[in-house]
Amino acid sequence: MCGITGYVGTGKASRYVFEGLKKLEYRGYDSCGIAAIDDIIRVKKDTGMIDEIEERIDLSELPGCIAIGHTRWATHGGVTVENAHPHLDCSGTIAVVHNGIISNYKELRKELEKKHRFTSDTDTEVLVHLIEENYKQNLEEAVINTLKRIKGTYALLVISSEEPDRIIVARKESPLLIGLGDGGNFVGSDVSAFLAHSRKAIPLDDDEYAVITGNSVEVKSIITGKKLDKDILEIELTEKAAMKEGYPYFMLKEIHEQPSTITSAQNIYPEEIRTVAEAMQKAEKIYLTGAGTSLHACEVAEYWFSKIAGKLVVAVDSSELENRAVVDNKTLVIGVTQSGETYDTLSAMRFAKKMGAEIGVIVNVIGSTATRFAEYVIMQSSGMEVSVAATKTYTSQLSVLLRLAIELAKLEGKDVKVIEKEFSSIPDKMRQVLSIEDEIKGKADSFFNVSNYLFIGKGINTPTAEEAALKLKEITYLHAEGMSAGLLKHGTISLIDENMSTIAFLPSDSENSAKMLSNIQEVSARDGRVLIISQGKVDEDEFISLPDTSEVLSPFIFSPVFQLLAYYVAVKLGRNVDKPRALAKSVTVE
Ligand code: F6R
Repeated sequence: MCGITGYVGTGKASRYVFEGLKKLEYRGYDSCGIAAIDDIIRVKKDTGMIDEIEERIDLSELPGCIAIGHTRWATHGGVTVENAHPHLDCSGTIAVVHNGIISNYKELRKELEKKHRFTSDTDTEVLVHLIEENYKQNLEEAVINTLKRIKGTYALLVISSEEPDRIIVARKESPLLIGLGDGGNFVGSDVSAFLAHSRKAIPLDDDEYAVITGNSVEVKSIITGKKLDKDILEIELTEKAAMKEGYPYFMLKEIHEQPSTITSAQNIYPEEIRTVAEAMQKAEKIYLTGAGTSLHACEVAEYWFSKIAGKLVVAVDSSELENRAVVDNKTLVIGVTQSGETYDTLSAMRFAKKMGAEIGVIVNVIGSTATRFAEYVIMQSSGMEVSVAATKTYTSQLSVLLRLAIELAKLEGKDVKVIEKEFSSIPDKMRQVLSIEDEIKGKADSFFNVSNYLFIGKGINTPTAEEAALKLKEITYLHAEGMSAGLLKHGTISLIDENMSTIAFLPSDSENSAKMLSNIQEVSARDGRVLIISQGKVDEDEFISLPDTSEVLSPFIFSPVFQLLAYYVAVKLGRNVDKPRALAKSVTVE
C-alpha cells in the first residue's frame, strides 16, 4: 500500500513528482523518495513524512526532465532509508518504484544474489536486479521479460539513464493511471497525483504496460505484446477538493461537506440506481461486501433492504466472502468501496465473478480498479476524501444504498413516499447537527477522559455503534468496541468500571429506544458512566440532543456526532488526525 508517480517532459520533473507524492501521501507515509535523470540517475530518499524529508534533504530538488517517486507504507522490510524506494540496480543506471507485493521474491533473490548486490530487505529490489539482468539494449524488452518471471501484484515505474526519454510502466492488481499533459506526461497511483496539470487520464488495466515519453503514450498487453487502443477519461474533479479551505484538518472539512455530498448522492441519475435495483430484483441471492467503514455501510443497508424493500440482502466482510457466501450464477455481489482499490474487496468481487455471479460496485474514485470489471457501477460522487478516516464517503455510501432499497421497494410495488420525502430533508437535518459542533466538542473534552469505550446501539444503529468505535480507535488510538445494546449483558458488561465509559445511540421514540433505555440502566446500575446521543428527550446527566427523524434514517443523524467526537478527542490528544499511525487510505494488500 504505497503511492507512486512519475513525470517525463520539458519541465522540472522532480518538482512535479514531489507535488504528486504530496497528494498521494494518504496512501502511505513512513518514507519516500525520488529518482531523476539528468545525465545520470540521482536518488534522494529518507524516512518520515514528505514535508520533513523535503526540509532535511531538498527532496524536490533534482536536475532533469524525467523522474519517478514513491511514498511508502512498509510491507516487506522495516521503515529504513535503505528500504525506501526508488531502488537502483548494481550499475546505478536503472531505477524502479513499485506498489504491490512480489510473492516469489525469495526464490528470485536467492538466484540473483549470486551476481547482484542487494541493499534493502524489500521484495521490490528483485525487480530492478532482474531488469538489469535482462537489459540488453532495450528497456521495454527488459521490463517485459522481467514481468514474465514475476508472481504477485504490481504497479511499476522504471527509468534508465541509458534511455532517458521514457518511463516504462506496468500494472497487475495495483492501480495506475497515465495523465496526459501539455509539454509532458504523468503517471500516478490515482488521478490526484497529476490533477493540477492534467484532466485527461488513461487508466491501465491488469496485464497492461505503457511506454511514456514527453509527447507520446503507447499502451500494450504484457501477455501478447500487442498495442491497445485505450479510452481517455475526462476528469471532472477540481483541485480544490484537495485543499483544506481554512479547516485545520481535512477530516473536519470532510465532516462539514456531508450535507452537500449527501445531496450529490441524492442527485445521481435515477436510471443508474434503477438498473442496479432491477438486477437486485432478479437475483436469487444478494451480498453486499466491503471492509471497515464501507462494511458498516453495507450492514446498515442490510436493515434497509429488509425493512423497506422486504428483501434479504446479506452484508459480508469482504475478507471473508469467499469463506462464507454461497455464490453462483444467480447471485449478485455488490462491492462497496470508497477507493475502489481495497485488496480484500477486489478479491471478493473477483472470486464472485469467477463463480458466475453478477458484479456491482458503489465506488468513489474515478478510474479505480473496481470500476473496471464490475457490470454495474454507481459512482457515489462524494468528491475526493483526503483524510484517512472515512466520513463523508460513509454517508454517501449510505445514501446510495438507501436509494437502492427505495427503488427496489418501488419495483416490488411498495409505497415509499413517506421515506422518500423524509430522506430529502436529511441534508438540512445534518446541517442542524453540525450547528451544535461546540456542544459536541464540549462533550469530547468532558466525557472522553478514560482509555476504554463501549458504543451501543440497537437495530439499524448496531452498525452505527461499530462505526463510531472504529472512528474513535483509528484516530485517537483509544480502545473502543461497538455492539448491539442487547449483546452487552451477555459478557461485555463485566468490563464496566471507572475506566470504561459507554456511549449509547438512542433514536426517537420507538420500541428499540425503550429497550435501549433498560440496557442503559443496566450499565448505570454498575456505576458505568453513560453519554446518550439522543433524538428524543432523556432524563440523564450526560446527553447530546439531536433533531428528530424516523428510526430508519437515524444513522445519518448520528454519523456527524460520532465523527466530531472522535475528531475532537484526537485533537485534544495531539494526534495527527488526517494521517493516523500505521494506517493508509486504501489497503491494497491482503
Ligand atoms: C476507516 C476507513 C477504512 C476503510 C476500509 C475500506 O475510516 O477508512 O476502514 O473504510 O479500508 O476502504 P474502501 O472503502 O476504500 O474499500
